[in-house]
Amino acid sequence: MQDGFGRKIDYLRISVTDRCNFRCQYCMSEKMTFMPKSELLTLEEITLIAERFISHGIRKIRLTGGEPLVRRDMKDVIQRLGRKVATGELEELTLTTNGSLLTEYADHLAAHGMRRINVSMDTLDPDRFSEITRGADANVVLDGIESAKSAGIRVKINMVAVRDFNEADLLPMVEYCAKNGHDLTIIESMPLGDVGADRKLAHISADEFLAPLRDHYSIAPIAHRSAGPARYVSVEPLGLRLGLITPLSNNFCDGCNRLRLTTDGKIYMCLGHNAHIDLRAAVRKDGIASVDQLLQQALRLKPLRHDFNAQLEGSAEILERHMNVTGG
Ligand code: GTP
Ligand code: 5AD
Ligand code: SF4
Repeated sequence: MQDGFGRKIDYLRISVTDRCNFRCQYCMSEKMTFMPKSELLTLEEITLIAERFISHGIRKIRLTGGEPLVRRDMKDVIQRLGRKVATGELEELTLTTNGSLLTEYADHLAAHGMRRINVSMDTLDPDRFSEITRGADANVVLDGIESAKSAGIRVKINMVAVRDFNEADLLPMVEYCAKNGHDLTIIESMPLGDVGADRKLAHISADEFLAPLRDHYSIAPIAHRSAGPARYVSVEPLGLRLGLITPLSNNFCDGCNRLRLTTDGKIYMCLGHNAHIDLRAAVRKDGIASVDQLLQQALRLKPLRHDFNAQLEGSAEILERHMNVTGG
């Protein structure tokens, strides 16, 4: 599949639930309410839609949320999609999770073809972890990460950079990842949805966030450019490959390879735009074959890039949609 700008689209992100057992401050407001469960795509619908997308050239699927592992039939979702990895129709099935349920799920993930997962963790400090997640326990996540590693799954930690909050946590996080063989990605926070705070105050560029690291280690760019959003630097002499996701300070949309399926079955072609197609309504009314034509329509909707900089500066309106519905 190709979009209107000639970009190859072979990567689908599915948000399987908007629910989450954490309430990260940059993601949700404290009073976040969730969709009625009847709005969610069913297990059958997710499987059928994913199969259709695969037949059009999707090669990689990432399951996100909300917290994907709080969905009640999640083991079945993983099992069904894992079959596509076993048959070679999918190159990769992965997961982005807050890590809180990994101890229970790690063996199941590994048994159904997951070779690497991303775990969100913005600090190792127990008090600050509890503060940013509004009450979660960092040790439960650390245990979950250990379980994944023991099950043979490679772990990448996602750390969102938050000004005047977790700058001092970068150095311990880098050293923890280097010691335990995890990858690490630093993410600039994006202005998506009202979280009841001024997003601009919390924003910090990845470059500024890395400053404390430069006092201790040398940081060199790595030429490698994947189809994903991250660019990479190496942290020496630790030998850590550090990913930087910099939607605001260094746009990467020209290489975008992805589309998103929301919890309630809408295709969004860009995290930062509201244009979408209601696949669930079409599938429930006209059957699964309607996906084919709607997918072609969706490809033409994909914009060249997001408007997050204008949204953060206040010259464009912030989207009402939160990250947990669109799927990170
Ligand atoms: P890979 O599959 O390894 O490329 O993972 P990833 O880093 O894209 O996935 P993950 O779910 O861990 O996302 C990390 C962060 O990158 C999240 O905050 C996502 O919202 C953000 N992100 C992922 N894809 C895009 C994108 O296309 N545009 C923007 N602006 N942000 C993205
Ligand atoms: N900006 C950047 N990253 C975010 N995440 C959630 N909300 C935001 C935001 N507004 C991150 C989570 C998780 C990933 C899926 O998205 O921390 O790692
Ligand atoms: Fe939950 Fe992830 Fe949002 Fe935190 S960032 S509240 S873990 S969905």
